[in-house]
Amino acid sequence: MVALALIVHLLAAVVWVGGMFFAYVILRPAAAGRLEPPQRLGLWGEVFARFFPWVWAAVVALPVTGLFLVQRLFGGFGGSPAFVHLMLTLGAAMIVIFLHVFFAPYRRLRAAVAVQDWATGGKALGTIRKLVGLNLLLGLLLLAGVAGGRFMT
Ligand code: HEM
Repeated sequence: MVALALIVHLLAAVVWVGGMFFAYVILRPAAAGRLEPPQRLGLWGEVFARFFPWVWAAVVALPVTGLFLVQRLFGGFGGSPAFVHLMLTLGAAMIVIFLHVFFAPYRRLRAAVAVQDWATGGKALGTIRKLVGLNLLLGLLLLAGVAGGRFMT
């Protein structure tokens, strides 16, 4: 069970953080340089509609498997090393930021694209860009902390 939980945990982290890396670092500049607002906002609406169900799966799987691992490997947070506390703190912040993106600017983006209001859609996309950039940074910090953390405590 521990092995299965670790596998699911790791795959969820790879899909979420890797997906944000591709969207932010690769697709964003490529789309910005080539597409006019109607095509660009429509593209992002569709990209998020395909990516966010995977993020939902990750934001459920990571805490569930993570808390299970904390119990099984360390007998609770009291016995957990510092890098696990860091993971919980940064992971919780990332999840809250994703929930905000999903229920606020992403909802506005979808509504704006539906009525072809490109100005409102552009604003919403700008907010999503900033928050996904922040979440990507937190995710990379978290992964660096996990990779190096166990050798520092
Ligand atoms: C939200 C609450 C979370 C908890 C309670 C938690 C807990 C844990 C625990 C207990 C481990 C095992 C540590 C060990 O093997 O010594 C672990 C491993 C790991 N976690 Fe988390 N985690 C959480 C969120 C996250 C998030 C959001 C990510 C990345 C986006 C993440 C990425 C990882 C990675 C990459 C490993 C290493 C897996 C391995 O060494 O095989 N975790 N986590």
